[in-house]
Amino acid sequence: MKRILVTDARIVNEGKIQNSDVLVANGRIEAIGGDLSRRDADIRIEAAGRVLLPGMIDDQVHFREPGLTRKGDISSESRAAVAGGITSFMEMPNTVPATTTGERLAEKFAVAAKSAFANYSFYLGGANDNIEEIERVDSASVCGVKVFMGSSTGNLLVDDPAALEAIFSRSPVLVATHCEDDGIIAKNAAAFRERYGEAVPMRCHSRIRSAQACFASSSLAVDLARKHGTRLHVLHLTTAREMELFSPGPVEGKQITAEVCVHHLFFCDADYERLGARIKCNPAIKTAADRDALIDAVADGRIDVIATDHAPHTLGEKDVLYFQSPSGLPLVQHALVSLLEHVHQGRFSLELIAERTAHAPARLFGIRDRGFIREGYWADLVLVDPDRPWQVELEGILYKCGWSPFEGQTFRSSVDATIVSGHLAYFQGKVDPAPAGKRLEFDR
Ligand code: DOR
Repeated sequence: MKRILVTDARIVNEGKIQNSDVLVANGRIEAIGGDLSRRDADIRIEAAGRVLLPGMIDDQVHFREPGLTRKGDISSESRAAVAGGITSFMEMPNTVPATTTGERLAEKFAVAAKSAFANYSFYLGGANDNIEEIERVDSASVCGVKVFMGSSTGNLLVDDPAALEAIFSRSPVLVATHCEDDGIIAKNAAAFRERYGEAVPMRCHSRIRSAQACFASSSLAVDLARKHGTRLHVLHLTTAREMELFSPGPVEGKQITAEVCVHHLFFCDADYERLGARIKCNPAIKTAADRDALIDAVADGRIDVIATDHAPHTLGEKDVLYFQSPSGLPLVQHALVSLLEHVHQGRFSLELIAERTAHAPARLFGIRDRGFIREGYWADLVLVDPDRPWQVELEGILYKCGWSPFEGQTFRSSVDATIVSGHLAYFQGKVDPAPAGKRLEFDR
């Protein structure tokens, strides 16, 4: 493997920013120091004025393989991820077939071993009838069990109360939940159908998949976790009210943790007018007040982790009437730069971004030797120019679905380089053709 020397970067790590050199060798961070310029290196990256962060660990993506590969696949979407500064991903089970058995999980790991550009793990899907499969999950090698407590893309809804009790009481590994109450959504949908027929305007999405539907389900998940002592991670929270379910503090002490996604921190319901189905997702993007409450919760630690919920669909599939239009949007390539906008606006610090996108997911899942810029750890790094504005244009989009909700958006920061397990995966606007992702390992 090539030795990479990054000189004079502003290293953001563990609550501090300091100027230093970093030497990468054999996949790992060999040295961090004031002047390593005399050390041997095959690749030298002069990084003065730029920011080196631990690579983002995205704990929620949908890469669509197997079965939905017209929308994306592990290779195409992980390629886009490294161009965006994401060095590890955890992928969701609502593929076709759904990943509800150990055998299907093993098949995904085998595909990723050959084609993933970033480090990877995969969730087993919870179902109404697969508790035995869940009990067999090896917590050292699989990130978690995903439970759809509200239905979304695919048919993985767990709506049998006995199955939920079984999963929450017997899962040997972290349970990650999608929380929305299907009964409340169905009632809301019927009311809007009554009013508009099939031509429901996209802006109604946040009132159909309402704040009430979110709270009913996320509070049920929290109650079940308290009852059974489950290690619960509630995914993609979207409302101010849900924030009362979580407490600030370091992830280590927590039995229940919370995640928010970049688009829920960026967009609000005023954007449906402009972007329509492009920002239709589940749970829905809600009001500006909800978005501001999520930003506050990221800052004070009630939200532990920021992820993407990258969920590509083709524009042809999206661009139809409300009820037929699938939910989800592609995000991995633009997630980090969208978060850095919050730094420019004075809402988040760089240290906070490193905490919520890398340190916290590494601690929360117990990921071995990743998520920090430390000697001896895997070299998962992203070099960012905080002041090199660029505009998102169609030509540069790497998603297989070929579009982004950010088209036309100017971001003030750019990703210059991404190093994945010591390999220079993205540099000078190009993704290296060799996929170098490794399987994540867990100490827990
Ligand atoms: O908007 C969403 N899209 N939310 C989900 O939970 C699933 C995802 C998808 O897979 O399309």
